[in-house]
Amino acid sequence: MHDQREMRHSSTPVELAFPTPRFDFSSCEPASWNGGSAPRSHFWNTMSSLLPNIEFCAIRSLMPLVAQIHDPKLAREVRQFCDQEAAHGTAHSHFNVERLHRDYPALAKIEAWERGLFTFFARRLPRSLFLALFVAVEHWTAAFSQYGLEEPDAWFKDCDPAMFELWEWHAVEELAHKAVCYDVFRFLGGRYVAQVAGMVLLLGAVMLPGIALRMTYLYWKDGLLFKPRAHLGFAAYLFGRRGVLTRTALDFLHYFNPRYRPWDVDSLPLIRAWQARTE
Ligand SMILES: [Fe+2]
Ligand SMILES: [Fe+2]
Repeated sequence: MHDQREMRHSSTPVELAFPTPRFDFSSCEPASWNGGSAPRSHFWNTMSSLLPNIEFCAIRSLMPLVAQIHDPKLAREVRQFCDQEAAHGTAHSHFNVERLHRDYPALAKIEAWERGLFTFFARRLPRSLFLALFVAVEHWTAAFSQYGLEEPDAWFKDCDPAMFELWEWHAVEELAHKAVCYDVFRFLGGRYVAQVAGMVLLLGAVMLPGIALRMTYLYWKDGLLFKPRAHLGFAAYLFGRRGVLTRTALDFLHYFNPRYRPWDVDSLPLIRAWQARTE
């Protein structure tokens, strides 16, 4: 009976405990750490600046729900999810404060404004829509993680080693816990309409304005805002043959399939390969 309950609510097929590496970002140059390229570096700088607020807000949304989750496996996974997101948020904040904010101080102001936005969401959104926001976040992070780990040279060629280690570790944990938010959302009665609304809200209110504002600022600060080559480089990085959005487009559409489940894409081989490499 106990096993049947676990099977019903948790769809995570892998243990979620991973060691947290220590990072040294002292030799990392924010504008060139990814292959010497400003567009490639700044896309992920933008993500690094966006993610800690989202991760800490996800913890705030899930932790109060643990007491309602009567499936011990799923309840344990929620706690591990929160531990992992706290570790990610802390590691990215370390990079942001130590390297990014030093050269690009307005990013700290944008992050502070977004913290206010998330507090507003936490207070005002219906619970299922607020949770769906993180179902959508986890879908995006898992899609990026899947393809980033499958073909690291496509997105991270000649990358600073500390930054590569940061994104690789983050990606592995994102894949391992990719179903936790979805399972909690479903466990608490979340419906397809809210799942879709969560993605629309995430894209419209957080991701698209957050990325556009940061990239404009980073390019302006580097004197690249009126250099067509910099914009072409960014467009190629997103929409080229092995571009970030090109490679994740089908996954993005799959989210809108009413039969969508996070583990429709099998990420276990990538997780096992990373474990074998780092043991
Ligand atoms: Fe994360
Ligand atoms: Fe995550």
